[in-house]
Amino acid sequence: MSEVVMQIDGKEVKAASGTTVLDAARQAGIHIPTLCHHEKLEAFGGCRMCMVEVETRGRKSYVVSCLYPVAGDLVVRTRSERVDKIRRTLLEELLAHAPNSPELVELAREYKADPNRFEKDPSFCILCGLCVRYCNEVKGINAVDFIERGASREISFIPEIAVKECWDCQECFALCPTSYAQAAYFLTEALAFPGRRKPAATAA
Ligand code: SF4
Ligand code: FES
Repeated sequence: MSEVVMQIDGKEVKAASGTTVLDAARQAGIHIPTLCHHEKLEAFGGCRMCMVEVETRGRKSYVVSCLYPVAGDLVVRTRSERVDKIRRTLLEELLAHAPNSPELVELAREYKADPNRFEKDPSFCILCGLCVRYCNEVKGINAVDFIERGASREISFIPEIAVKECWDCQECFALCPTSYAQAAYFLTEALAFPGRRKPAATAA
């Protein structure tokens, strides 16, 4: 596989062609925050928290690093006033939905995001899709899926599958940045197959 040499935060970084800026940064020990990325899953590009500034031939743009391919002439900045402002606004929006998520609260502290900027609308799910995609791509079970569209979009467990498959799995719980996957499962369990209960798995 061929390699490209690029610059990330002023550091010369070698990256395999076909990989992403996020991969290259991680290889070089440079941290970029992510909320919907998982190394076992296809890139999703849903949360936009991994947004970085890229400059190529003097032109700057803002791209999601988990999807953006590496290139030899790329200059990447993982932190800048504008990048931080984008992440701050995203966090403020997400905190309106999931104000108690420890991961969001921690990021909000780092990016000085105001958790009260937007009116609270606690749906608790930030639609990162980790539970849905893990169940589909890693487990091949599809016990949880997105339902509805637009502002009504949410995740839901499919009771007929969940009753058979989730009992001995529950691996998505640990991936969820807001604990909503676990809550949604227990709600499904209570409504669709009450009387069965097993302690949550601790790791994916
Ligand atoms: S339930 Fe959790 S893991 Fe699933 S999409 Fe919502 S926030 Fe992401
Ligand atoms: S981690 Fe890149 S968009 Fe979510």
